Amino acid sequence: MQAKNDRCTPKNSNSSMLKQTSRLSPKQRAILTETFRKMEDDGKRTGVNIFVRLFAEYPNYKAIWPQFQAIPDSSLMGAQELQKHAGVYMSGLRNIIASIDDNEALAEQLKKIALTHLKWGIRTFHIEVRNMLPEVLATVHLCMNGITPEVKDAWTTLFAVIASMVEDFRLDAEQKQNYRKGQGGLAGPVVK
Ligand code: HEM
Repeated sequence: MQAKNDRCTPKNSNSSMLKQTSRLSPKQRAILTETFRKMEDDGKRTGVNIFVRLFAEYPNYKAIWPQFQAIPDSSLMGAQELQKHAGVYMSGLRNIIASIDDNEALAEQLKKIALTHLKWGIRTFHIEVRNMLPEVLATVHLCMNGITPEVKDAWTTLFAVIASMVEDFRLDAEQKQNYRKGQGGLAGPVVK
């Protein structure tokens, strides 16, 4: 049986998801594959770097991750929990990049990410312009010893697609009044 959040509606139907993934051009897909390969040369460091930057900029974000809440701010940067989540995050990105040339497979990966983030109250602004994207771009810059406008554009488009899908699934869940916290429903107050 399909989970409530998994039902197809106009917003998260296959065609709507494919419309999102088709925003990535073949050139951008090639750039993403190539740059991610470089980021994975030292994948652990890359992942940790993204999160260290994110928490330096937004210390209040610690509250979003249940496993970080009890860790004092002064210990978070070196904490095992952060290292572990950085690895989980990189494997999420790896699955996305591994599917980048196949719109159906890519839509499936992004759907998984969108659904798992519903209950944590993650919104477009967490992923895009203001928050995670700048830290990812800074990390790409570090791994590539520089960043061209094309590379920046490819990562920006990918994160815009991810953010749109997270938003579509959130709006859909909201419409269904699926508010049961902690069970795939929507989170409480959003941490900004
Ligand atoms: C491209 C963007 C992102 C990717 C690829 C990504 C990847 C992942 C993955 C793979 C997981 C594990 C999912 C699972 O348990 O099955 C996860 C969990 C989580 N992510 Fe993200 N994430 C992204 C953006 C974000 C952002 C922007 C935030 C918050 C500001 C966030 C907060 C969380 C939280 C709170 C969890 C659950 C923590 C846990 O239980 O371990 N994620 N993420």
